[in-house]
Amino acid sequence: MENFTFQSKIELNNKVKIPVMGFGVAEIAEELKTQVKILSEAIEAGYRMFDTAQIYRSERALGIAIKESGIPREEFFISTKIFEQQRYERTTESVFESLKKMGIDYLDRFVLHWPIAGRYIQSYKEMEKLYYSGVIRSLGVSNFEIWHIKNLLLHSDVIPVTNQVEFNPSYTCGEQREFCEKLGIHMEAYTPVGRGGRFMKTEPLVSIAKKHGKSVPQIILRWDIQHNVIPVPRSSKKVHMAENADIFDFSLGQDEMTLIDDMNQDDRRNTNPYTTE
Ligand SMILES: NC(=O)c1ccc[n+]([C@@H]2O[C@H](COP(=O)([O-])OP(=O)(O)OC[C@H]3O[C@@H](n4cnc5c(N)ncnc54)[C@H](OP(=O)(O)O)[C@@H]3O)[C@@H](O)[C@H]2O)c1
Repeated sequence: MENFTFQSKIELNNKVKIPVMGFGVAEIAEELKTQVKILSEAIEAGYRMFDTAQIYRSERALGIAIKESGIPREEFFISTKIFEQQRYERTTESVFESLKKMGIDYLDRFVLHWPIAGRYIQSYKEMEKLYYSGVIRSLGVSNFEIWHIKNLLLHSDVIPVTNQVEFNPSYTCGEQREFCEKLGIHMEAYTPVGRGGRFMKTEPLVSIAKKHGKSVPQIILRWDIQHNVIPVPRSSKKVHMAENADIFDFSLGQDEMTLIDDMNQDDRRNTNPYTTE
């Protein structure tokens, strides 16, 4: 990963390749026109992996931006997630709805958004059928704790390629990361830069940023990459899109990685899968 560039890809456990970094498509804007503008700017900035979800209401805009870019579909890695309250019986139908909204005929990844008790196994089994049919190139999970993954693997055949969870200096998922790595499940970081303001004045990030002539978000995203975690930062600003992508011309030393690891407080800002089913 030392030699990674923004265009590099990682091979997932089923041989499908994913860009080292993606772009988060939740809450980028309300209006379709503004969503398309932001996503077109992200494509122009070089992002090729897009993390959307049925619940984000941005699938249509993503489809338009990709089509308008003129870049071949195969150059993108398009990922969406099943609606959290989804009844598993609607899994297949909802995938085809997502494809229709985006104007594409396959997904690079379909993600189970939330491990809803009593439903996630059945939903995943429906997703497996779509995977075998070729409509979906890979299956992912999100917000899965270790016990959810263990239970999933007891009842299914396809090991998910990724687990997308909150991951940032305040919540570093130590044990879970190790567990997933052993199974060949890549960790993916949501809320990677702590929604913008959170870590901007926090040490040791500020000092490390100063030393490398980089910003705090760049240091955090580089820390993700060096941990083999795929970040999906979101931004509506061109300057931040470019800044977040500009993290491949420096490396963090092991001492700096450890300093950031040690910031962990097991403090997550999104819904907690331990307490919310
Ligand atoms: N699976 C799940 O349950 C789940 C949950 C939450 C999020 N996600 C995914 O993860 C993505 C990202 O997570 P997130 O939106 O929660 O948090 P985030 O990416 O950590 O933060 C986004 C915020 O940070 C700001 N920002 C980004 N880059 C910046 C920079 N270089 N300097 C200053 N500010 C910067 C953005 O503002 P500007 O627009 O001003 O740049 C935006 O307000 C989402 O879009 C979604 O795809 C998944």
